[in-house]
Formats: sequence, C-alpha cells, structure tokens
Amino acid sequence: MSENRSIPKHVAIIMDGNGRWATQRGLERQEGHIAGAKAVRAAIRAAATAGVDYVTLYTFSTENWGRPEAEINAIMELFCYMVQSQVEELIKEGVRVKIMGERSRFPEKVLSQIDYIEESTAKGETLTLILAFNYSSRREMVFAAQAIARRVAEGQIKVEEIDEELFSRSLMTAGVPDPDLIIRTSGEYRLSNFLLWQASYAELYFPEVLWPDFTEEDFNRALDIYAGRERRYGLVIQEKEER
Ligand code: IPE
Ligand code: IPE
Ligand code: MG
Repeated sequence: MSENRSIPKHVAIIMDGNGRWATQRGLERQEGHIAGAKAVRAAIRAAATAGVDYVTLYTFSTENWGRPEAEINAIMELFCYMVQSQVEELIKEGVRVKIMGERSRFPEKVLSQIDYIEESTAKGETLTLILAFNYSSRREMVFAAQAIARRVAEGQIKVEEIDEELFSRSLMTAGVPDPDLIIRTSGEYRLSNFLLWQASYAELYFPEVLWPDFTEEDFNRALDIYAGRERRYGLVIQEKEER
C-alpha cells in the first residue's frame, strides 16, 4: 500500500449476499442481515481510518418491499436496534448519518429512529454516512424531473436553464460528490437501481465475498484496486515518459 495512493472521496456499497450467507449455514435469511450489520461497522471504521469523506450504503431498496413480511420486519427492527446500539460510538467517531430515500411507507417507529440518528450525529465532521433506505434511483430521477417542472411552471426558471448541474442539485444526493468507487459484494454484477445518474464515472468493483464476511481488509483491498485504476473521463491521457 503506497503512502500517496489516491483515496476516493466517496465510496458507495451495495451490501449484497446476506440471504445466501444465512442459507449456506441453514439459518433464516434474517440472520444474514444481523451478521451483515457487523460488516457495516467494519466498513465505516475502515473508511474513516483511510480518510474517505462519504460512504453511501445501499440498505434497503424500494423494490425490497416485495420481500416476505417477516424479512422486511426483521430489517426494520435491525435498523432501530443498530441506531440505538451504535449512536454513541458514531458520535465519538465523528460520523454524521444521513438517511436517503422516501420516508413514506416506514412504520412510525422507524421514522422516529431516522430523525433521532440524524439529529444526534449532525455535528460529525470525520465522515458522512449516507444510508440509502427505501431508495430507488429511477424514482429519485422522476422526483427531480417533477421538482424542476414545477419550478418552470411557476416561472422560477426557464427551460433553457435546466442543465446537468441543476439536475444533480435536484436529486436526493444534492451537495454530495458523485461516488468515485462503487463496491458490490457477493459476485453479482449489476447496480440494481442504485445511484444510476451519480455512477456515470464511478469505478466499479465486484468482490465475490458475501456481505456478512466483508472485513476492514476487504475495504482496504477495494481502496488499493481503486488506486490502481486510471480514470479517463472520456479523454486521452498522455503517458508520462521519462526521457
Ligand atoms: C442484501 O442481501 C441486503 C438487502 C437487500 C436488504 P440480500 O438479502 O439481497 O442477500 P441475497 O442476495 O439474497 O444473498
Ligand atoms: C440490492 O440488492 C439492494 C440492497 C443491497 C439493499 P438486491 O439483492 O435487492 O438486488 P437484486 O434483486 O439482486 O438485483
Ligand atoms: Mg441480494
């Protein structure tokens, strides 16, 4: 690991494989989510240590409401438990938590935990942790289009003023830099409706490890792989020749 390797400002993770991890052990899928929560702690710690500024975790997609009720309830319970058990440590570590997604459909108990964790960690300055919770990238873009259309209809902006910058600012990620690195665990090679606009120039990494087995070393390996990538943004990069 070289000292001056480039560190991504924003790492986004699709935490996948909890169900398979549990099934392989003859356990209920819920047990996989519980085990996955421990990997969340490891990832946050590794990111903070490395100097990453933003971590976004795909926690629950809008499509995940279609799962069996018992599994959904277990995930909601786990979220509430994690808020209560982690809040002190997160404050101590300077982690600011933001929840990104639609607030409708959440039970009252979950909504109050969302407000509680956001308010109690608001002063954190080391790392911003964004939890994509009831998140759908396509719906996020539709809402942005609606918000912009409304402003046009009200005469606040002209159609010609709609540009990439305004669209970005109308998304749920407004003010957050685009992810530099997106990691998806469990050997699945897709984005599943996650940060589709924001991922335009992200580096993608798909380790085989199931999310509950993801460790700080795995996170650091991802950073090493990122540091070895060449980001070209559609340009021709001149080779640095030593003559
Ligand atoms: C990811 O693990 C966690 C959530 C979607 C909430 P999965 O539950 O999708 O695990 P697999 O893909 O079934 O193994
Ligand atoms: C994406 O994983 C959502 C989260 C990790 C929260 P899924 O397991 O739901 O995605 P698909 O169904 O494999 O595409
Ligand atoms: Mg999955």
